[in-house]
Amino acid sequence: MHAAVVTAFGPADVLELTELPDPAPGPGQVAIDVTHAAVGLIDVYVRQGLYKDQKGLPQPPYVPGLEVAGTVRALGDGVEGLRVGEPVVTLSGTGAEGGYASVAVVDAAMTVSLEGSGVDPASAVAAVPNAATAYLALTEVAHLKPGEHVLVHGALGGLASAFPGMARTLGAAGVTGTARRPALERARTSALPYDDVLASDDFAEAVGDRRFDIVVDPVGGQVRTDSLRVMAPMGRMLLVGNAGGDWQHTVPTNTLWGGNLAMLGFAVGHHLPNHPEQARPAARAALEAIRQGLIPIDIQTLPLSQAAEAHRRIENGSVGGKLVLAP
Ligand SMILES: NC(=O)c1ccc[n+]([C@@H]2O[C@H](COP(=O)([O-])OP(=O)(O)OC[C@H]3O[C@@H](n4cnc5c(N)ncnc54)[C@H](OP(=O)(O)O)[C@@H]3O)[C@@H](O)[C@H]2O)c1
Repeated sequence: MHAAVVTAFGPADVLELTELPDPAPGPGQVAIDVTHAAVGLIDVYVRQGLYKDQKGLPQPPYVPGLEVAGTVRALGDGVEGLRVGEPVVTLSGTGAEGGYASVAVVDAAMTVSLEGSGVDPASAVAAVPNAATAYLALTEVAHLKPGEHVLVHGALGGLASAFPGMARTLGAAGVTGTARRPALERARTSALPYDDVLASDDFAEAVGDRRFDIVVDPVGGQVRTDSLRVMAPMGRMLLVGNAGGDWQHTVPTNTLWGGNLAMLGFAVGHHLPNHPEQARPAARAALEAIRQGLIPIDIQTLPLSQAAEAHRRIENGSVGGKLVLAP
């Protein structure tokens, strides 16, 4: 098979196109002929070596990539409910590797059929994993109630883009986004179902008296601190990423006490392996929201041979949607 391999931790050009033996599925696994592989900021962090000491994450040489779409190539022992040739998409939760290749092996529990969904594989891999994450974060973690108001930081980001549509399907009364100034106009004119998008450097002043029941924060740092000022009593902040790169960020916990506020971490890759039964319901909710046109993510597709360029684009923040590799 063709694969893009991280040959060492370091800058994007450590990614090299290589030929490797085709992997075979073990018990409970599925081999997929990959047509599209998602690229996310997490792939960049792992390649940079940010998590090099974290248990369970790969060491070079490895094939990066968490999520793929394609057709089932072979079934491992004990796999039921999927057939060879079936179009599928996978959710994150299968480890941080294997996607940037023409054949990927993943857990059957994280593999979801696209048959009859009306969603094409590029849109599926660009939106289903993040929309399923948004669904689980909003239902299982933040317990969104109909009529609540939601604020989403880094509005155009791959993960963030899934939240306004998913929040609407769950009955949110309104969804506001924030974006840094260079991305502001793009975010305001995007088809994502935000009611409004504010500049992230002064959103806490710009919202006036409005207060939010749920804040979705994949960015961290100063926007995380500022968010505490705009949360409604009993408000919940979802800590789902750290795109801003402030790894030392802290919050004054007495602010949470006095304001009746909660901060809730959620990492789907650590959650779904412990709760595989939640994968397919979340994926079904994601596919339905996509089918309704609520998650219109801009997709950039590059050939697998340009995996390094894909990482550079993510690193310089020029994607504004989701980047997908086509093996
Ligand atoms: N919790 C989970 O299960 C889960 C799942 C997927 C991803 N994540 C995490 O979520 C975060 C975002 O991932 P993603 O794949 O959505 O990334 P992405 O597509 O690159 O989006 C990141 C967004 O963050 C915003 N941002 C603000 N300050 C930034 C800065 N200094 N540098 C870069 N971006 C900045 C950018 O928005 P503007 O330019 O519009 O401001 C950008 O659109 C990452 O930390 C990732 O690890 C978590």
